[in-house]
Amino acid sequence: MNDVKRIARLQQMRTPFYLYDMELLARTLDEVSALSARYGIEVHYAVKANPEERILRSIAARGFGADCVSGNEVKCALGNGFPAGRIVFAGVGKTDEEIETAVRSGIFSINCESLPEMKVIDEIASGLGLRARVSARVNPDIDAHTHKYITTGLDENKFGISRYDFDALIKLIRESKSLDFNGLHIHVGSQITDVEQVFSLECERVNEIVSYFENQGIEIENIDLGGGLGIDYLEPDKHPVADFGTWFKTISSHLHVRPGVKVHVEPGRSLVAQCGTLCTRVLYVKPGREKTFLIVDAGMNDLIRPALYGAYHRIDNLSAALRDGSDGNMKKYDVVGPVCESSDTWGEGRELPESFRGDLMAIRSAGAYGQAMASRYNLRDFAKAYYTDNI
Ligand code: LLP
Repeated sequence: MNDVKRIARLQQMRTPFYLYDMELLARTLDEVSALSARYGIEVHYAVKANPEERILRSIAARGFGADCVSGNEVKCALGNGFPAGRIVFAGVGKTDEEIETAVRSGIFSINCESLPEMKVIDEIASGLGLRARVSARVNPDIDAHTHKYITTGLDENKFGISRYDFDALIKLIRESKSLDFNGLHIHVGSQITDVEQVFSLECERVNEIVSYFENQGIEIENIDLGGGLGIDYLEPDKHPVADFGTWFKTISSHLHVRPGVKVHVEPGRSLVAQCGTLCTRVLYVKPGREKTFLIVDAGMNDLIRPALYGAYHRIDNLSAALRDGSDGNMKKYDVVGPVCESSDTWGEGRELPESFRGDLMAIRSAGAYGQAMASRYNLRDFAKAYYTDNI
């Protein structure tokens, strides 16, 4: 992002907009492809992180599968090059219509989150005269050491089937009319940075669960360990590609994989976060009594993570790079958006080069759960997306 010509070009564009670095995306996918082949782990991209067509098509072209959480995501994945045989579908509240879409499409696995849902899938598949491949999403009761809104594997969370229900689940699988049992699914949370600690525990828990099922005569052919690999929001330039190596290595050294069993993962954030930047312009420099505000034209409707989770996104002043020697003159600012909520704040007390009306700012690491969670709150327009390979 320090290429002078590129910044000058971006400065002429209407803000706010998302900019995707397609070269970084390709580099990330290269690394994941190589590791996936080396460790024999199948990758299903979590579409919810960013369902933009260009992103989906780039990922599908690598032969990765898709992890979906709604009927529309399943349709979107199918429409953008993901084969049905590589699509998995999770979610605690699948509607009958969504289940029917999944069964008719013949996707790889419906990751079922409760016993009542399992019964409904069986009934719907029977009614259609089709068979449904289902996996059981199990709740391992593991702390992912992440923000409480994005931790999913604790007993108190709504996700997955509790170990107290395993016997009833096994009975249901045996008695079902139209279900083909595919295996186990587990996902403990997102933005996990204690990678070795959390994922080794997850694998050990899965080993116990697999043994429990096998002792009851139920074979586990697929183990899907979900997503969750964290990224470096503080220093995106230092770590543009997440630490997939440690993730895959931890899995392969802690998970007992019997011959013939396939292992799957569902990364979302780690594939796309660092390649996305939300570009915004300084509208006003507003000196307050206590602090100076930089009011920019991107708001919480464009990227809700700071307002919703108190998430940190690095902010760079791109225009300052074009001004000679401006880096020497650092100032402290509260960078805020235009939306009528105090939580519409990008960062407090941020050290930035002295900034002026019209400066182009980059809100970094915005490729995951940015555009995907955007809204039109305050009737603001959606920010457009541009791609570095065609601007
Ligand atoms: N698989 C399942 C079943 C999931 O629920 C999720 C994310 C993923 C995979 C992908 O996880 P990732 O690799 O992206 O961590 N909006 C929040 C994140 C919510 C994550 C929800 N589930 C955020 O902006 O931090």
